[in-house]
Amino acid sequence: MCGIVGFTGHRQAGPILLHGLEKLEYRGYDSAGLAVRNGSAPAEVVKSTGKLVKLEEKTDNGKALEGCCGIGHTRWATHGEPTQINAHPHVSGNCTGSASGTVESEVVGVHNGIIENYIELKEKLLRHGYSFYSSTDTEVVIKLIDYYYKKYQIGPIDAIAKTMVRVRGSYALEVMFSDYPNEIYVARKDSPMIIGIADGETYIASDVPAILNYTRSVYYIDNLEMARLLPGEAHFFNLNGDEVQKELTEVTFSAEAAEKGGYEHFMMKEIHEQPRVIADTLHSAVQNGIIDLGLDEEQLRQIRQIYIVACGSAYHVGVIGQYVTEDLTGVPVRVELASEFRYRKMKLEKDALVIIISQSGETADSLAALREAKKNGIRTFSIVNVVGSSIAREADSVFYTKAGPEIAVATTKAYSAQLIAMYLFAIRLGEVRDTIKDTKPLLEELEKLPDKVERLLEDKERLQWFASKLGNTKDVFYIGRGLDYAICLEGSLKLKEISYIHSEAYAAGELKHGTISLIEDGRLVIGCLTQPELYEKTLSNMVEVKSRGAYLMAVANYGYYSIEDTADFTVYIPRTDPHFAGSLAVIPMQLLAYYTAVGRGEDVDKPRNLAKSVTVE
Ligand code: F6R
Repeated sequence: MCGIVGFTGHRQAGPILLHGLEKLEYRGYDSAGLAVRNGSAPAEVVKSTGKLVKLEEKTDNGKALEGCCGIGHTRWATHGEPTQINAHPHVSGNCTGSASGTVESEVVGVHNGIIENYIELKEKLLRHGYSFYSSTDTEVVIKLIDYYYKKYQIGPIDAIAKTMVRVRGSYALEVMFSDYPNEIYVARKDSPMIIGIADGETYIASDVPAILNYTRSVYYIDNLEMARLLPGEAHFFNLNGDEVQKELTEVTFSAEAAEKGGYEHFMMKEIHEQPRVIADTLHSAVQNGIIDLGLDEEQLRQIRQIYIVACGSAYHVGVIGQYVTEDLTGVPVRVELASEFRYRKMKLEKDALVIIISQSGETADSLAALREAKKNGIRTFSIVNVVGSSIAREADSVFYTKAGPEIAVATTKAYSAQLIAMYLFAIRLGEVRDTIKDTKPLLEELEKLPDKVERLLEDKERLQWFASKLGNTKDVFYIGRGLDYAICLEGSLKLKEISYIHSEAYAAGELKHGTISLIEDGRLVIGCLTQPELYEKTLSNMVEVKSRGAYLMAVANYGYYSIEDTADFTVYIPRTDPHFAGSLAVIPMQLLAYYTAVGRGEDVDKPRNLAKSVTVE
């Protein structure tokens, strides 16, 4: 969704805030804004629509704003269009026009999240004489804080606490009060926020890369907590206003890991990081042949049913996880879209395990599904990339994938890391339940994946060439059976989300139940053929669509050379255990999507309408 930053210290805040926003631009990029204060002077607010560079130009890279205390925001519009007036920061006073310039307001703030009952609150404030200049839910929250602050003549923490009790929804909120120079007040519920401290200065951000240049010492603020931040100091409070003690945590990944490292786009860099990410994730869980995902052996033995719940690409990992787990362990697995699971009144098995997969660990639907499972008394296990995120903290146990910071909106390396976690889960479950007698051959095969992915990456020019022919393509179909179908789901999503070419993944056997009528001359159909027992079947579906004019690409195992008689273009993937084929077959699909989008001149790292972390429903 949106990204927020804050700083209070001894240096000029503007450039530091803009640097932080640059690192968070992947979270939202339709408008941005800053509010900076110089001592007790009123805050200076500057906003701009479009990418961050506009705000940088407008503020001379932040230098035009005087002051050492400030907040910033990069927006991905939810309530209200992406206009300058709707951009954050928002203020408690009445202002018109662009809402930029010096503001005499009591309260100035930024917000990431969504306030569900903002209309009802707005009506209340209108009755109390407030007026509104924007159509955002954030302006309502800022004015509500102002209302309580003035009505009850209380301090900032108490005013924010009263507001938190009154609002429904999610928020990472930062506010400055004109009566409290050099201080920033924050509050959090279901939206990410970290606080960094170094050299007598304090930083706030939605995500670690925004502050890594300055500090590695961070506090994780919990749900329904607030903090009062001064230069070099952070004081935390619960909803009752009682102070709570917290430990500083050291962030271990490097700032360079979050940079492009010589690649034109983060997505390409992240695609190339996959061999390392696979190896790191594997080695973090497996030592001397023993798999440790932090799960209790006895509990694994008692599981009667598994639910895998996730969104988007993480859901696609779940579909592969279903095939692999059922095949290796015999335990029934259901894969559920988190956005559906949370509202389906399904009867959950008591001896079940709910697995939540999430890169960000903050996806609103996945988090809600996790809570629903816990409410039903079901054990939860999360596979998460972002350390300290809500899903990681709230699940009964968590396994952290080792993808490092993923910046491109379209996931690649986090997906690959999640697959490894799913394979290891299935192998461990099979080991505990005795359906796998010897895990060694499977683990040895996993060890070979990084080299095999590397080999596929070396062949990328062929995909670049093929992608160059797809500039005018309008529709693409991905077909496969079994695990190959699950791989197609991800290949198709990658293509459509960054190139804006319409694409669909179909279970190959399902084509003739309707979709085949869409096949006409030149329609691109991509077949995935990695499962030995399904090869002939999918091949015959490819022959069927070819005879109706389709243009065919195949992603097939080395050795399946008969595919050449049918497909117009084939990418061969190294042989592996069929359970793990997804880790290899997805690589050419990622590359195809990347090169197609680049060829069409699209903004690969920041596709339109999408945000990296979907913290609203
Ligand atoms: C697609 C993509 C999304 C995410 C989905 C879940 O490339 O990245 O589909 O997989 O939004 O996000 P997380 O994993 O953060 O819960």
